[in-house]
Amino acid sequence: MPMSSSIRLGIVGAGAIGNVHMNTFGRIPGVYLAGVTDAYLPQAEQRAKEHTISVVYQSPQHMFEDPAIDAVVIGVPNKYHAPLAVEALKHGKHVLLEKPMANDAESARTILQAKEESGKVLMMAHQMRWSGIARALKHHIDKGELGRIYNAKTGWFRKKGIPGWGSWFTRMEESGGGPLIDIGVHMLDLTLYLMGNPKPVSVFGTTYAEFGPQRKGIGTWGTPNWDGYYDVEDLATALIKMDNGSTLSLEVSWAAHSAGLPEEPFVNLMGTEAGISLVGEKATFVTHAFDQVIESEIKPLEGEEDRTMLSKHFVECIRENKEPITSALSGYTNNRILSAIYQSSRTGHEVKLDWN
Ligand SMILES: NC(=O)c1ccc[n+]([C@@H]2O[C@H](COP(=O)([O-])OP(=O)(O)OC[C@H]3O[C@@H](n4cnc5c(N)ncnc54)[C@H](O)[C@@H]3O)[C@@H](O)[C@H]2O)c1
Repeated sequence: MPMSSSIRLGIVGAGAIGNVHMNTFGRIPGVYLAGVTDAYLPQAEQRAKEHTISVVYQSPQHMFEDPAIDAVVIGVPNKYHAPLAVEALKHGKHVLLEKPMANDAESARTILQAKEESGKVLMMAHQMRWSGIARALKHHIDKGELGRIYNAKTGWFRKKGIPGWGSWFTRMEESGGGPLIDIGVHMLDLTLYLMGNPKPVSVFGTTYAEFGPQRKGIGTWGTPNWDGYYDVEDLATALIKMDNGSTLSLEVSWAAHSAGLPEEPFVNLMGTEAGISLVGEKATFVTHAFDQVIESEIKPLEGEEDRTMLSKHFVECIRENKEPITSALSGYTNNRILSAIYQSSRTGHEVKLDWN
């Protein structure tokens, strides 16, 4: 039974990430796992047993209509993020939404609008911002140690990492894209945050599908469906220009013939006073002194693991009626850039982003 002050949380989507959220929120004080639902009900029933959740809802709609639910976590294929998040907000629920916010910018905008109308919390689940090393980087940046960040380079080069070939992951209609929208969105989110959230004004990008259509480069995440199909990219490259003149280049792949490029997530920030290079969990601070290049290691800040911190932040935002650091606006901004990259790739032209 929940304590009277507990946040009664419902989980929409009992797949891989839904299970991660159930594990994490199950350990957060002041949260009561009140219900779970999934389009495939036996999956929800199984998770309910594993996590001792008493209510299995027949559908997300049933969950949203129940006054015994205060907040929901949405962890379903990207296509359903917008309709479910909008519906949950309309029913007065706070929402923790998996990334990407939506499968395109237009759908993401509907969530932003619903969030503004509802007055509820809408938080994006970008756990990378909460890692000890990302927090350490932010700490150095906020102290002004980098000066003005004028260029950044970020990405993630998986060489053989196509998730769930043929499943929703590789079908444009359900996912909205390949590695760009799957892992690129994490890198975009983290780098924009570290750059101080400058406003993106123009985007040039190209995407390629060289491995997936040939059923090559298959990774271990997700279950393949060999009756399915593959119509998303497997590599994307883009240059984004900001209103303050700074630039960000983003390159991601699920599969590629590459050696020497980091298979782990990386971020390079180049500032007027110093730079930071992050590869995986290892970060280096770079500056010049006495005409020499000086490098030193940055240690992660201490604290709980990233998903625990993310979940606690969600709870804190609900209790204190605060805007999450991974706000709806940040999710929408990410989606606008992603959609512009796909558009640029289709047309071969730069896409200007108008924010009026
Ligand atoms: N933050 C991260 O690092 C991270 C990691 C993995 C996945 N994700 C995101 O989480 C989401 C789900 O990914 P996953 O790996 O758990 O996928 P998954 O395929 O393992 O699980 C998705 C679940 O959603 C259910 N579902 C499908 N449509 C539904 C609907 N309309 N209503 C209710 N349930 C529905 C499916 O039956 C399935 O059980 C995606 O948006 C993905 O991008 C985020």
